[in-house]
Amino acid sequence: MPQALGFDIYGTLVDPLRMNERLRPLAGERADRFSELWREKQIEYTFRRGLMRSYADFGVCTRQALAFAARAVGVQLSEENEQRLIEEYQNLPPFPDVAPGMEALRSQGHAMVAFSNGVEATARTLLQRAGVLSYLDDVVSVDDVKTFKPDPEVYRYLARRLQRPVDEVWLISSNPFDVIGAKAAGLKAAWVRRKPEAVFDPWGIEPDMVVPDIEELARKL
Ligand code: LAC
Repeated sequence: MPQALGFDIYGTLVDPLRMNERLRPLAGERADRFSELWREKQIEYTFRRGLMRSYADFGVCTRQALAFAARAVGVQLSEENEQRLIEEYQNLPPFPDVAPGMEALRSQGHAMVAFSNGVEATARTLLQRAGVLSYLDDVVSVDDVKTFKPDPEVYRYLARRLQRPVDEVWLISSNPFDVIGAKAAGLKAAWVRRKPEAVFDPWGIEPDMVVPDIEELARKL
C-alpha cells in the first residue's frame, strides 16, 4: 500500500562524514576526527538552539560547528578555506543504495519528501547534485517552523505538508534521535542502520522497522 515517507537527509541520503576527504589536505591524520566533530557539534548546536529558543538556521549551526571543530583539532582555518568547505558541504555524496532504493520506492507509488533541519534552498541544491531530488515530490525544511528536530512541532509540520494524519506518516532516518523524536510525536519510523555497530538509544521507544539501507526499505515497506 502506498505510504507517505519523509526522508532525513544528512547521514540517511548523503554522507556528511565524507567531508573528511576535503579536510585531509588541511588536517592530515586528524581529518576523520575533524569531520566527526564537525557533525557532532552541528547537531549539538541545533539541540541547544532549540532548547534555548534561540533559532539560527542550519547553515549558521554548520558554520559555527566547523569553526569549533577546526579549533578543537588545532587547524587554523582561513576565511577562504571556511567558505570553500561550506560550499563543498553542498556536494556531499549519496550512499550507493539511495538511487536504486528511491527508484524502487517511487515505482511503488509512495508520497516521498525530504525532511530536514537543512534550509530548503541548500537542501535542494545538495539533493540535486547528489542525484536524489528527482525522486522526491517536495523538500520540507524545519526552517519554516523555526525550530529543529526533535521538537514535536517539526514532525507535525511534516504531516501537515504531506496532508496526512501523523500516524500515517513515516520518518526514514539513520539518526536515532530523529527516529525517537518522530515516534514520540506519533509518527511511524524506520531506522536506517547504516553501520552494523550503530547503537540505538535505550529509551524504550523502538523503530517500527530497522533496515540497513534504502533498497532494503523498498523491499520491506
Ligand atoms: C537532517 C539532519 C538531522 O537532515 O540529519 O535533518
